[in-house]
Amino acid sequence: MALELESVGVAFGGFQALNDVSLSVAPGQVVGLIGPNGAGKTTCVNTLTGFQIPSRGRVLLEGRDVSRFSAHAIRRAGVARTFQAGRLFSGLDVLDNLTCAGVGLGQRRSAAEHAASDLLGWMGISDLESRSAAGLPYTDERRVAIARAMMGNPRYLLLDEPAAGMSEIEAADLADLIRKIATEKGVGCLLIEHNVGLVLSVCTDVVVLDGGEVIERGDRKVILGSTAVREAYLGVNVEAA
Ligand SMILES: Nc1ncnc2c1ncn2[C@@H]1O[C@H](COP(=O)(O)OP(=O)(O)O)[C@@H](O)[C@H]1O
Ligand SMILES: [Mg+2]
Repeated sequence: MALELESVGVAFGGFQALNDVSLSVAPGQVVGLIGPNGAGKTTCVNTLTGFQIPSRGRVLLEGRDVSRFSAHAIRRAGVARTFQAGRLFSGLDVLDNLTCAGVGLGQRRSAAEHAASDLLGWMGISDLESRSAAGLPYTDERRVAIARAMMGNPRYLLLDEPAAGMSEIEAADLADLIRKIATEKGVGCLLIEHNVGLVLSVCTDVVVLDGGEVIERGDRKVILGSTAVREAYLGVNVEAA
């Protein structure tokens, strides 16, 4: 039982954005995906969610090949995501943002509204229900984007830099929320994040991408001890320095 990339390659014209990338997220697990800018992290998420068809390899959802499913079909099959830029419906209030997602997934409006209200309560942000999405502070906007992704009870949730621009304290709150989603709802999460400290505090398993390839994978100890990771981040050969 997992959501997986199996030896995935993605090419844009002659440019190889991903090369032979394999990774797997199990229900209830939070996997970290890190790497420098342009490493291919968002392309991984796009491929896992039907926004990008892989040139090679397969996307597997609990054993089923979903490589050619549309983004909508994958969402309905239980894989949700957030985007680097919030992408809320700015003309709607928070409750309607979630309700629309539920209706898009085939729920009746009244059921969707109920579920939306329950979900905001579960996340501790009921006070935002009738606020306009347009005027939300940054951190609330991120939480609402996550809440909207949680409509329809997805089994997997992919978070593309949800803590970007947050303070350490705000990021730590977000980390608590991600843990809660994984442990209480059993959702398998893939967390893309620049803040390596945040990733190591939440994730038991971390995959490191650089130049479209997996250069390291393992737990906190492996990542912190990895020369390849240090070189990728610092852009220097640590052995030679
Ligand atoms: N649609 C696209 N067309 C051409 N090149 C792209 C496209 N999307 C991403 N790329 C390139 O692929 C590489 C990986 O991008 P991306 O997955 O967004 O990296 P990351 O999220 O790790 O910063 C970058 O060099 C980027 O410019
Ligand atoms: Mg990105």
